[in-house]
Amino acid sequence: MKSQKKHTYNPYRSCFQTMSANGAAELLRYGKSKAGCISLAQGEGSLPTPAFICDEVHKSLSEGKTFYSFGAGLTELRQEIATYHAKTYGHHIPLNRIAVTSSGTNAVHLALMSILDEGDEVIAVTPIWKNLIGITELAGGRIIDVPMEQSDGKWHLDLEKFFAKVTPHTKAMMIVSPNNPTGWVMSGEDIKTVLEFARARDIWIIADEVYGRTMHDVSKAPSFLDYAEDDDLLYVVNSFSKTWAMTGWRLGWLIGPRDSEDKIRDVILYENMGPPTFTQHAGIVALRHGEDFLQTQKTLWKGNQELVIESLAAFDHISLVKSPAAFYAFFKIDGETDSFALARRLIDEVGVSLAPGGAFGKEFNNYLRLCFAASPEVLSEALHRLKPAFR
Ligand SMILES: Cc1ncc(COP(=O)(O)O)c(C=O)c1O
Repeated sequence: MKSQKKHTYNPYRSCFQTMSANGAAELLRYGKSKAGCISLAQGEGSLPTPAFICDEVHKSLSEGKTFYSFGAGLTELRQEIATYHAKTYGHHIPLNRIAVTSSGTNAVHLALMSILDEGDEVIAVTPIWKNLIGITELAGGRIIDVPMEQSDGKWHLDLEKFFAKVTPHTKAMMIVSPNNPTGWVMSGEDIKTVLEFARARDIWIIADEVYGRTMHDVSKAPSFLDYAEDDDLLYVVNSFSKTWAMTGWRLGWLIGPRDSEDKIRDVILYENMGPPTFTQHAGIVALRHGEDFLQTQKTLWKGNQELVIESLAAFDHISLVKSPAAFYAFFKIDGETDSFALARRLIDEVGVSLAPGGAFGKEFNNYLRLCFAASPEVLSEALHRLKPAFR
């Protein structure tokens, strides 16, 4: 017989009582459960991982590369990450600052687990990908948000407002640039200002740069590593997911300050001992030979962005900033007050799943996010279906 025992206390961690709800994940599931619904709600495209990367997994498996990985990841992959940074950005990062992680999401988690104590505050630029808020809360931290503003056809972050949020409890500042969902990119000048401000106050910076190579017209976005000293309290998060269409692989990397190596290694050791050895080998070839595939994706994203802009321009009550990076259209709908209800209606009435703006920050409940990394055919069909709903 099953036990009917009722707990007289809450047996789970208290953070689950205070964590903000993730309504967008629920809507994503709802959209996926509806036959025929087109999902442009998640941050991934329709291109599979290129064959030369998949082939390396087969080769690694057949060569018996099936044993535990080691510490902060395979030395060969860490070396390749260092080479990639040198080649792409001109950064010279010693291996002891590089850790291979089980995704960009995991890299943020490792970084926060190494620095946050219960109740520490993390100031975050919003709109922001909801999971980054959840990871912070799970690690015991509290998000203090600083919303960007949309005006004159651009997104703006007011650094004065950002810095004004610092309190004695501030442990870190979290910046996603290029940004999901807006595509906003922090300028090199602003990166320098933020670094100097944080350095003077011993505040950590968590720079999520997973969209760093998704700039539509140039090769890369400015990086915090362009300006940082090697002992700055800076974690830079990166991922194979977006750059090489490897979302399902769960592979990323984290670059920390000079003395972070043993802390991150310990968190990896006690968490999951790192990503599979054979996928790490595939990561090496992605970094080494992935530029042509990235270019193919960028051409697709650029053309698709034009399709979206042209389609949404037909509606006076919709405004969209043309972003210089990433593959999202984050658009404002005048008069809208509940993006969650609207996203659900779009699934039910026209069979298109988009992400509700309110999931990226409470100020953005009159926005929707559309991921345009799909094939042009699927995207065109979705835009066609959306027309009557926006009329
Ligand atoms: C800003 C940001 N960081 C990290 C990630 C996750 O990357 P990964 O797939 O490597 O966990 C995403 C995914 O959408 C993202 O938007």
